[in-house]
Amino acid sequence: MINPIYSPDSNRYDNGMKYRRCGRSGILLPEISLGLWHNFGDVNTFANSQAMAHYAFDQGITHFDLANNYGPSYGSAEETFGMIMKKSFLPYRDELFISTKAGHDMWPGPYGEWGSRKYLMNSLNQSLKRMNLDYVDIFYSHRYDPETPLEETLQTLVDIVRQGKAIYVGISKYPKEAAEFAYRYLAERDVHCLLYQGRYNMFNREPEEEGILQQAKENGTGFIAFSPLAQGLLTNRYLKGIPEDSRIAKGGFLKKEALTEEVLNKIKALNELATLRGQTLAEMALAWVLKDEMVTSVIIGASSVAQLDDNLKAIKNTTFTAEEIEKMNLIYNQK
Ligand SMILES: NC(=O)c1ccc[n+]([C@@H]2O[C@H](COP(=O)([O-])OP(=O)(O)OC[C@H]3O[C@@H](n4cnc5c(N)ncnc54)[C@H](OP(=O)(O)O)[C@@H]3O)[C@@H](O)[C@H]2O)c1
Repeated sequence: MINPIYSPDSNRYDNGMKYRRCGRSGILLPEISLGLWHNFGDVNTFANSQAMAHYAFDQGITHFDLANNYGPSYGSAEETFGMIMKKSFLPYRDELFISTKAGHDMWPGPYGEWGSRKYLMNSLNQSLKRMNLDYVDIFYSHRYDPETPLEETLQTLVDIVRQGKAIYVGISKYPKEAAEFAYRYLAERDVHCLLYQGRYNMFNREPEEEGILQQAKENGTGFIAFSPLAQGLLTNRYLKGIPEDSRIAKGGFLKKEALTEEVLNKIKALNELATLRGQTLAEMALAWVLKDEMVTSVIIGASSVAQLDDNLKAIKNTTFTAEEIEKMNLIYNQK
C-alpha cells in the first residue's frame, strides 16, 4: 500500500504544547522532546516509528534528538529519521529542531569514537547523509574524552558551526570542570554553547546535586534532561512484573538487576502519590523534572503512540506542593 501523504495537524501549535527559552538564546524548545535512542532502529517496525514521529509533531513537539549510533544497528535510527524526513517532514524542515551527536562507539578502529576532530567531522558528515539533511540544528560532543585535548574537540564544534553543518552546538555528560572550560572556550570564539544534555530524573539527581544545572544557567546554556523516566522505571511498566515487550525484557541498556526490591518499593510509593495528584507515574515523573525552570526540556523515549500521549499530559501540571516534594524526597532516600 502506498503511504498517504503526511499532512500535519494544522492546530499543532495550539494543542497544549508549551515552549521554554533555551538559556540566553533565541531558541524556544518544547517542554517535551522526542528521543530516538530506542524504537527507531532497523530492528523496529517502521510504521510504528513513523506514527510516533508524526504524532509528536502533530502535538507541537518540534525537537527530535538523535545520535550517530542510535539503533540498533548503529546509524539506523538516523536512517529511519531520514526516511521520515523524505516522506513527511521535508516541507516542514524549518519548523523542526533536529540534533545529532558523536562521541560513543560508532565504527571500528581508532577513529570511530571519542573526541578527535577526525571522528567528529567524519561522523557528522555520515549523520547528515543518513538523515537526508544539509545541516542539523544542534550537534553535540556526546561525552567528554579524557585523552583528547579538549581544545581539539571544542575547536571542531566551532568549525562545524562555521561550516554551516550545525546551527548550534552542545555538550553531553561533561564533568563540571570540563563543562566550565567548554562554555568559556566556545564563548571566546563567539559560538554559544546552546545546551547541556544530562541524565536527570527522580532517581538520578546528579545535575542538581553537583550544580550542573546552576552552572548551565550561569553560562546562559539550557539544560535538557535525558531518560527522565529512568528508561521506563518511573512509569507503571514494571509494577506487575516485567512485560515481554519492555526494555528490560529486550535486554539492552536497562538491566533486570536495576529492578531491585528497593527500587520496586519506591516505584510503588511514587505511583500512589501520582494517583493522588491525578497523574500517571510517567506524567508525575516528567512533571517533577519540568518543575525546575532551569530545565529547558525533557527528552522522552516511547515505544508507542499511547505512551507518547500519556507523557504529553505531564505538562498540564508541573507544580508540586511542599508536602508532595517532601514525600518524594523521603521515598527517594528510603532504603
Ligand atoms: N546524551 C546521552 O548520552 C543520552 C543517553 C540516553 C538517552 N539520551 C536521549 O534521551 C532520550 C530518552 O531516553 P530514554 O529512552 O532512556 O527515556 P525515558 O523517557 O526515561 O524512557 C523511555 C522508555 O520508558 C517507557 N515509557 C515511556 N513512556 C511510558 C509511559 N507513558 N508508560 C509506560 N512506559 C513508558 C518505554 O519503555 P518500553 O520500551 O519498555 O515501552 C520507553 O522506551 C533518548 O532517546 C535519547 O535521545 C541521551
